[in-house]
Amino acid sequence: MQEKWWHQSVVYQIYPRSFQDSDGDGIGDLQGIISRLDYLENLGIDVIWLSPVYQSPNDDNGYDISDYQDIHPDFGTMADMDELIEEAKKRNIHIVMDLVVNHTSDEHPWFIEARKSKDNPYRDYYIWRDPVDGKEPNDLRSAFSGSAWQLDEETGQYFLHLFSKRQPDLNWENETVRQEVYNMMNFWIDKGIGGFRMDVIDLIGKLPDQKITGNGPKLHEYLQEMNRESFGKADLLTVGETWGATPEIAKLYSNPARKELSMVFQFEHVGLDQQEGKDKWDLKELSIPELKKVLSKWQVSLDNEGWNSLFWNNHDLPRIVSRWGNDKEYRIESAKMFAILLHMMKGTPYIFQGEEIGMTNYPLKDISEANDIETLNMYYERLEEGYRKEEIIESINAKGRDNARRPMQWDDSEQAGFSAGMSWLPVHPNHKEINVSESLADEQSIFYCYKKLIQLRKENPIVIYGSYTLLLEDDPNIFAYIRAYEGKRWLVCANFSEKVQNLQLTEKQSINYPIIQNYSRKQYDLADLTLEPYETFVVDLNPEKEI
Ligand code: NOJ
Repeated sequence: MQEKWWHQSVVYQIYPRSFQDSDGDGIGDLQGIISRLDYLENLGIDVIWLSPVYQSPNDDNGYDISDYQDIHPDFGTMADMDELIEEAKKRNIHIVMDLVVNHTSDEHPWFIEARKSKDNPYRDYYIWRDPVDGKEPNDLRSAFSGSAWQLDEETGQYFLHLFSKRQPDLNWENETVRQEVYNMMNFWIDKGIGGFRMDVIDLIGKLPDQKITGNGPKLHEYLQEMNRESFGKADLLTVGETWGATPEIAKLYSNPARKELSMVFQFEHVGLDQQEGKDKWDLKELSIPELKKVLSKWQVSLDNEGWNSLFWNNHDLPRIVSRWGNDKEYRIESAKMFAILLHMMKGTPYIFQGEEIGMTNYPLKDISEANDIETLNMYYERLEEGYRKEEIIESINAKGRDNARRPMQWDDSEQAGFSAGMSWLPVHPNHKEINVSESLADEQSIFYCYKKLIQLRKENPIVIYGSYTLLLEDDPNIFAYIRAYEGKRWLVCANFSEKVQNLQLTEKQSINYPIIQNYSRKQYDLADLTLEPYETFVVDLNPEKEI
């Protein structure tokens, strides 16, 4: 496989509203990010994926864009953006922009024009249908509850919105729309960015009349065209958000021979604690063997025909340490377990802000504390459907998007060092104990575990290109695998439980010194090892010399 710079990179996702405020308005901004670049350089990351900073009425916190080539004043100016790209470059950090082109805001000038009349030149930029029997054209649903069709009273037609009704879907069948998008992408490429994270990109080939949303027939044709017309000329990282991807589908996107994207985010593991056929709010307990099966399938099946992205967290997901770990007595151990398990895999790892210090979910007592549109819409819909309040709040606390969007915890001061004013979303009270300042001062912190993992990736091709073999497939608690490369073999082993577990491996050697660990054990006698809660380690199975 031809080597690429992004094979060796680690990406750090910034949710700008919540990262660092520089002007005291309670909202994070670009100057705030610039002021924290040294921190990110110290962590060792290579790329920042910046969630949207464009002009937006903020119906969906910036994922509803009204001008793709301008910066929201909450975040600063285009001059600040140029400075961020420049300052990041000085530290060998690339900036990856969020590309949200399945839909725009209803305040985008294209939509303002489009809704004026049926014969407006911009009408066909969006997807319009006549009512059927005085109602919606069909029963397609929005990801944010309710129908995906909204009646435009003025013109008497419905427009499609797969997200909020203030996020009308663009009509990708219209060639001019596609050209507008590519021109806009080239504007950003010319600024020297490192690539694009493509929001719900699997939806752009939709056929709404057939109720096909993901993986439509023309999807890959569009992506190949996009590649030709924009980033194909440059050496960029492109990652598509593709909720419905299987490994076979992921190869269509990321096989270098097809000239589409560098990689995709797959979400199969994310869905494992949700009931079959229901939605994300219908919880079920995670099965560790299932998780191992899914992640291992992705590790082995892309082979040389694609590339994985590796993640536990993002701005749409709850904090992994709260969700599948133990964010109380084993917060540090379990956070490190997740880090080691993921960063020793093959693919490009993504860290979501605060993950590197083990930030946790923020449980709500009442819906009045929620901010996110998805959460709010679901709450009121389910109340109407007869669910109990407590039951809905329980789902929100487990899965709601506000969990990840609480301000970054920099120190133990009143607003956690995030802002000199009142934060737009209250800071988590546990910032008194969990914060960057503490983490930097403690050699054993989660931060230094991440830093070491990033370094290991840079120094050891086995981490980047080694093969992957799962061990103890059916073990209900142990997650163990071997990476192998040019005669080297590394064993990665984790007790994915809060009880001690006996390890039964076929490997019998006794190894002094681990490559990385989350308990300070001196010797790993593989023939006879009892692992502590969440204990995780990596050892070289054929060390030439003791490290
Ligand atoms: C996926 C984004 O990650 C999410 O935050 C957003 O709400 C939807 N796409 C719609 O843009």
